[in-house]
Amino acid sequence: MKVAVIGASGQLGGELCRVGDALGFEILALTHHDIEIRDEQNSVTVLRDLKPDCVINCAAFVDVENSENNIKRVFDINALGAYYVARACKELNAHHVFISTNFVFDGKIPKSQSYNEDDAANPINIYGLSKWTGEQLVQQVYMCHSEACRLPRSSFGEGGKNLLIVRVSSLFGPLGPRGKKGTFIHRILREAQVGHKISLIQDQWMSPTYAPDAARIILKLVESSQTGLFHVANSGHCSWYELGQHALNRNQYQEKIEPVSHKDFPSKVIRPVNTGFNLKKIEDFLGERVRPWQEAVDDYLRIII
Ligand SMILES: NC(=O)c1ccc[n+]([C@@H]2O[C@H](COP(=O)([O-])OP(=O)(O)OC[C@H]3O[C@@H](n4cnc5c(N)ncnc54)[C@H](OP(=O)(O)O)[C@@H]3O)[C@@H](O)[C@H]2O)c1
Repeated sequence: MKVAVIGASGQLGGELCRVGDALGFEILALTHHDIEIRDEQNSVTVLRDLKPDCVINCAAFVDVENSENNIKRVFDINALGAYYVARACKELNAHHVFISTNFVFDGKIPKSQSYNEDDAANPINIYGLSKWTGEQLVQQVYMCHSEACRLPRSSFGEGGKNLLIVRVSSLFGPLGPRGKKGTFIHRILREAQVGHKISLIQDQWMSPTYAPDAARIILKLVESSQTGLFHVANSGHCSWYELGQHALNRNQYQEKIEPVSHKDFPSKVIRPVNTGFNLKKIEDFLGERVRPWQEAVDDYLRIII
């Protein structure tokens, strides 16, 4: 199967190319140098020439903090760019995979709960709003308006038979995000190594996602031509403090962190408090549990240290 990966030099895109190659997919790795998704004509021309069976769009503006000051660029890539790619895929009759985020949710659920695919999105910052708009536009390409409104959020019905949306959350991986400064774990390890005291937020929770694990799962969905909406992450939820504590404990730096509230942390951006994912749908599909985030962090540390 010919699979084009847009955003191939990125953290997730790079892993999709590496894992896809190893699994025997014919991977067409498209970096920003090869395709500009803000330009519809360019996107159509590039994809028409390649004639892929499947297109995975990982290209995005991912710097949440700087999104608030770059609204036009953020929407041009995450919403309009996503729409252009989806239109090109529809024309080519290619299976289309759009990668989205936990930041489509407002995070106002209690800590004991998690979001499943049918829960209502309600983004509270520019990055989340742009990705949510991207999801909506991509669905509109595949479904007529009334169908998109009527169906449950996780199922795209007949019209969406070639469309898959995968939301991932708090990605980390050996390649690191290109669009922001290193992974959270990498950043705090660096701080600890130079002897800095680190304050980490203990009252915002999420489901960390190891990019190589996500890549394997996404390619399984692609292989079986799955459609609809899936949440993909490692299992379990944690706060940024717990994630940092786990990583630093493995490296004997645990004395260097202190838990703080997000209310004490100055930020330009409002962030959702709890965006933990419910993984029942993807685990039912896989027929097994996704491994816990702690195991994935341990693998990651073995690679980066
Ligand atoms: N990182 C996270 O914590 C996180 C969390 C949840 C969801 N996600 C989602 O996961 C996906 C992958 O994220 P990531 O961490 O892998 O991001 P990343 O490392 O920043 O990769 C994004 C890629 O997109 C490319 N790109 C940016 N603008 C483009 C454009 N206009 N046309 C073509 N290519 C363009 C970038 O190339 P250049 O760098 O050369 O511009 C880069 O290779 C995104 O959809 C993101 O929204 C990420």
